[in-house]
Amino acid sequence: MEPAGIALRLLVYLDSVLMLGMLLFVASWTRQVRLATAVFAAVGIVLTTVTMLRLAASFSDRAAFFDIPMLQMLLTETAMGWAAIARLAALLAVAVLALTSAKRFYTILFAVIAVVSLSWNGHGAMTDDALGWLHLSGNALHLLAGLGWIGALAAFLWAAALSKESSHDLAVSLERFAGVGTVFVAVLLATGIANTLFIVGSNALPTLLETTYGRLLVTKIGLFAAMLAAAAANRFWLTPRMITSPSLGAVRTSLGAELILGIAVLAIVAWLGTLDPVQ
Ligand code: HEM
Repeated sequence: MEPAGIALRLLVYLDSVLMLGMLLFVASWTRQVRLATAVFAAVGIVLTTVTMLRLAASFSDRAAFFDIPMLQMLLTETAMGWAAIARLAALLAVAVLALTSAKRFYTILFAVIAVVSLSWNGHGAMTDDALGWLHLSGNALHLLAGLGWIGALAAFLWAAALSKESSHDLAVSLERFAGVGTVFVAVLLATGIANTLFIVGSNALPTLLETTYGRLLVTKIGLFAAMLAAAAANRFWLTPRMITSPSLGAVRTSLGAELILGIAVLAIVAWLGTLDPVQ
């Protein structure tokens, strides 16, 4: 187990969650929201730089943290390096556009590029043959749906906790999210199964619980099921109730619970990405 590497991967996911949450699910594109988006993009640039420096140091025969020749080689001679360069450029564009442009569309576009480029950081890029692109693009959709769902939870919880938004407006936003949420869940399930088959392989499914990777993946799927239950309670019980009798308390608690489960899922994913799937 490599705690520092796992923590760094988790920070990258959480930063992407907050950036996507701000961009896609906070109703008004105010100066405050734009500033927060730019800050999350800047944090993403720092985290990506540290990730690549750490990787270069791990290959360095001088065990130097700043092994610039090794870093240059990694950035320009590996797919992961080019993906990191694309992420740095996309995050820079997000920060500049969020601070300067009123239009949200282009900022979202670059944020999506930054998130998709994470696919080259983990097992999503491990399939070499013709199916490699299918695995990578499925994993990219998995990233967008997973980080998007948790980003939405963070944005709605922020709206419920901090803003003066009456519970009716929040209920309307939550109702409007229901359709998007269903698409996220369907995409996560389909691409999650694909990821499992590409990485673990159908032959190894019966012995999944015999490996650390397998036990973590099963735990993750269990957390996913718990998130679905919380989301269903929110959608079919709490939100409709909030329209008739305006109370934020129960919705705040339910959103908070769903978000904590989501962060636990990301912590497991951060760990999974550092493990050998057969061990
Ligand atoms: C709340 C639901 C879920 C979220 C937020 C989520 C999120 C993620 C994220 C962020 C990754 C990392 C992708 C990368 O960095 O390349 C990932 C990988 C993965 N996910 Fe999910 N996922 C969810 C549900 C599922 C489900 C239901 C399955 C299985 C049916 C699944 C199976 C996988 C697998 C096998 C990987 C690859 C892990 C690795 O070896 O790196 N996920 N997931």
